Amino acid sequence: MDVKGLFEENIRTDNIRLHCIEVEAVMAELAKEFGGDDGWSVAGLLHDLDFEEVKDLENHGKKTVEILKKEGFPEDVVRAVASHNEAGTGVKRESKMDFALAAADNISGLIFAYALMRKTIVGMDVAGLKKRLKDKRFAANCNRDKIFDIEKAGIPLDKFLEVSIKAMQGIAGKIGLQ
Ligand SMILES: [Fe+2]
Repeated sequence: MDVKGLFEENIRTDNIRLHCIEVEAVMAELAKEFGGDDGWSVAGLLHDLDFEEVKDLENHGKKTVEILKKEGFPEDVVRAVASHNEAGTGVKRESKMDFALAAADNISGLIFAYALMRKTIVGMDVAGLKKRLKDKRFAANCNRDKIFDIEKAGIPLDKFLEVSIKAMQGIAGKIGLQ
C-alpha cells in the first residue's frame, strides 16, 4: 500500500490526522534545510499509524514498525519512527532523522497552541516561540527534552524553530490556522 493509503486506512480521527500532517510538513522543511531525503516527510506522516489502536505509550510504535517493515519501507524510516517513542520500542535515537522526528512531533503542537494563543501564525517569530518553550506550563504535553535534543543532531535550536515555524505557516489554511 502507498503512503497515502496507509495513512487514510489507519488514522481516522481528525485531530490525529492534523497532527500527522503537521509533523509531515515540519519534516519536509527540515529535510530541505538539513540534507534529508523524501523519507523524512514519510516518517512524519506515518509515525503515529498505531496511535488509535495502541493506547498505551509503553507499546506505541511497535505495531507501526511492523506495518512499515511489512510494507517494505526503508530501514532509516522504520528506525526513526521506532525511536520517536524510544521508551516504548527500546530503539534509541541516533541519526539526524531520528532526532528530527522526535523534535518535530513535539514542536508542531507547541507552534499550534501558540498560534491559537496569538490568534494567528502570521508573524510568529523564534523569540516568541522560545518563551513558550521555556514556559513548561504552556502546552504542557509537548515534550521539551525531545525538542532541545535536536542539537544532538547538529541542528541549532534557533534554526530548528525558524524552519518549523515556516513549515507550519505553509500549511496554516489546511490545519485551520489564520
Ligand atoms: Fe506524533
